[in-house]
Amino acid sequence: MTSRVTLVTGGTGGIGTAICKRLHDAGHRVATNYRDEARGRDWQARMKADGYDIALVQGDVASAEQCDTMIRQLETDLGPVEILVNNAGITRDTTFHKMTAQQWQEVIDTNLNSVFNVTRQVIEGMRERKWGRIVQISSINGQKGQYGQANYAAAKAGMHGFTISLAQENARFGITVNTVSPGYIGTDMVMAVPEQVREKIIAQIPTGRLGTPEEIAYAVGFFLSEEAGWITGANLSANGGQYMGW
Ligand code: CAA
Ligand code: NAP
Repeated sequence: MTSRVTLVTGGTGGIGTAICKRLHDAGHRVATNYRDEARGRDWQARMKADGYDIALVQGDVASAEQCDTMIRQLETDLGPVEILVNNAGITRDTTFHKMTAQQWQEVIDTNLNSVFNVTRQVIEGMRERKWGRIVQISSINGQKGQYGQANYAAAKAGMHGFTISLAQENARFGITVNTVSPGYIGTDMVMAVPEQVREKIIAQIPTGRLGTPEEIAYAVGFFLSEEAGWITGANLSANGGQYMGW
């Protein structure tokens, strides 16, 4: 197999860690970003102890300026980015009639504008080299909406429009652009939902349980393989059967 330079944003989180490990296992040279250096280095040391050598670059994906610096640093350290997984994300859940402009803006900046900030830095190089793989981590709630998540659902639905446009523009250049839409996965993000609310949500999942980060990493790995070169503009739902529409 070909070893590719890979950037997974938000790689230190629950789903991101599983994606980093899976891509490292596949033989790629994997990097992620951190915002807090001490926490980033601690995560890196724990990965190293498990046999995973993951590079780190500093950068807040909500900042176009920091993404510029982050990608330059990464390309100096490892070389041009060939695989990008736009995974970093946050929630600021509240019903819309109570939502502040800040709660709206933070989610749009981190979950959607980030996709511009990072992808814009790597797309020209992928086009020049005539190969690339890009995956957005969206959400079941970008497909079906969710009570208390107007900001998050808007950002995650926006990722689909981005994916299917970029897929059309870049197919001729050997670049595929796809989206994975996870359902509820047992990470810190879901554990932050009040327990009573979470239990009601789990009761709506046909498999009867939360998903695991590894199950999402498997779906991401599928799109990123060399063999998946004819699959572009697709959305893969991985949600335990909770939502079976588009
Ligand atoms: N459907 C219908 N009614 C609902 C509801 C739902 N899904 N959820 C809450 N309500 C009702 C409550 O029963 C309550 O009704 P009463 O006033 O009659 O008692 C009312 O809405 C509460 O409304 P409030 O405006 O007062 O809301 P709140 O401040 O109590 O907060 C909430 C509500 C923030 C939405 C809270 O219910 C919540 O956190 N829900 C979970 C949201 C969620 O799924 N987040 C996912 C996070 S993980 C993630 O995002 C990953 C991913 O992609 C899957
Ligand atoms: P998580 O454990 O909270 O991890 C989030 C990661 O994103 C962390 O590494 C975090 O880094 C990083 N991040 C957040 N804001 C950032 C910013 N501005 N700049 C750079 N990095 C930032 O969440 P997760 O559950 O793994 O979620 C990963 C992705 O999957 C998110 O996009 C989420 O919306 C999506 N998703 C999750 C679920 C689920 O059920 N868990 C379901 C569907 C979709 P810091 O340590 O610096 O905060």
